[in-house]
Amino acid sequence: MKIAITGAGFVGLTTGVCFADKGHQAICVDINEGKIAKINSAVPPFFEKGLEPLLKKHINKNFTATTNLKEAIKSSDITFITVGTPFDGKQIDLSYVKAVSREIGSALKEVDKYHLVVVKSTVVPGTTDDVVLPILEETSGKKAGVDFGVGMNPEFLREGEAVDDFSDPDRIVIGGMDDKSREVLESLYQGFGSVDILRVNNKTAEMIKYTSNSLLATMISFSNEIANLCSSIDGVDVVDVLGGVHLDKRLTPIMPNGERIRPSFVSYLESGCGFGGSCFPKDVKALVNFGEKRGVRMEILEKVVSVNVNQPFQMINLLAGHFPDFKNLKVSVLGIAFKPGTDDVRESPALPIVEELAAKGAAIKVFDPIVRAESESSLKELNNITQAETLEDALKDVDAVLLITRWQEFEKIPELLKKLKISPLVIDGRRMINKTAVPKYLGIGLSQDPVFSK
Ligand SMILES: NC(=O)c1ccc[n+]([C@@H]2O[C@H](COP(=O)([O-])OP(=O)(O)OC[C@H]3O[C@@H](n4cnc5c(N)ncnc54)[C@H](O)[C@@H]3O)[C@@H](O)[C@H]2O)c1
Repeated sequence: MKIAITGAGFVGLTTGVCFADKGHQAICVDINEGKIAKINSAVPPFFEKGLEPLLKKHINKNFTATTNLKEAIKSSDITFITVGTPFDGKQIDLSYVKAVSREIGSALKEVDKYHLVVVKSTVVPGTTDDVVLPILEETSGKKAGVDFGVGMNPEFLREGEAVDDFSDPDRIVIGGMDDKSREVLESLYQGFGSVDILRVNNKTAEMIKYTSNSLLATMISFSNEIANLCSSIDGVDVVDVLGGVHLDKRLTPIMPNGERIRPSFVSYLESGCGFGGSCFPKDVKALVNFGEKRGVRMEILEKVVSVNVNQPFQMINLLAGHFPDFKNLKVSVLGIAFKPGTDDVRESPALPIVEELAAKGAAIKVFDPIVRAESESSLKELNNITQAETLEDALKDVDAVLLITRWQEFEKIPELLKKLKISPLVIDGRRMINKTAVPKYLGIGLSQDPVFSK
């Protein structure tokens, strides 16, 4: 099939390239000319494992990118909306969705066959039917359900695993205003194997996405709240506590051969210095606001947000327990990306941590395997920040090391400290290092006294 994808960001570009890889003809549209030029020269504008080779394979064959939305839509059967849906401080910001819907509607004026418009952006229930559909009708002068259809197809890919998640999904949610919309959308997914397909109306599809993200965010904040309590109990380590919880066979089923399966779901029941990224924080807040507007208070989710906003500061508290005065304290911050495998820093816990350290006068070194401090505007403006070029460089000549992102490379910290014969205080925000493997260790969910290895 011929597909146009409007919004060549993280989701849009992955969608376009992966559909091309499944044999469809895909064209990505964006208003950002620089991004389109990069894509057309086969360079993804962001880091994502496996995306570049696929882009190189399909560019100018069955995949291309353009700024000309009208032409892209006229030459397609289906148009996806994959623009951003940020949180504006109070509620979901639908301005990009509305703007692109108007453009798609006006392009539809010149389309003389049935066309399907599918919302893939994460939007609160009712957006597809009550916002996008009327805009499309108004700007095209055509009738939904007759001249064109409207569907909703939430995206569940994870940054860092986006290509695999998209190409081999765990579920496909097919939302549609009517049977025809759902049939056309489902036909696009032939070739995705025997994956579970759920056929629902648009509002249900929208709600599934929010519920999935809210559940995972809730598990993280729950684990962090338990971690914070554990750290107040002498001799209790949250890693042991949650490790014991994980052994519940409803979480980690035991196979007939005695082996345990550890579903990746369980990794959300681990403590840390908070979740970030372009989805969980904004989506949970948008759902809380959506509930408020309907007179339904989402009390659990309100707390999921507030626990998470405070969680990065647990790292600061741990540091302050050991070094009460940060003035000229030399601190290394390891990890800027909100999680490993991506260069996305949106809502990363590293940002409030670095800002707080800078405000209190610390001298900060920053290291991330793929993100540079100067590429993040909020960090660029701060004083007293230097970029470490290697992990080794980051560990040298500092009083404390704050481990923020679970990059695999950071597992080498104990070995590097040994080699360099240095012993900064290591504060593990992801509990990924053995607490007795470094000379001085503190971690989220562990009582304040540093563990001194023998
Ligand atoms: N990033 C993720 O991991 C992820 C996963 C699942 C769902 N989502 C959802 O998908 C949506 C997109 O997220 P993203 O991370 O890809 O956003 P993004 O910010 O990376 O990309 C959005 C793109 O849309 C473009 N754009 C804006 N207005 C446009 C217009 N009128 N015409 C054409 N292009 C336009 C922007 O220039 C940008 O390149 C959001 O609703 C998000 O919640 C994201």
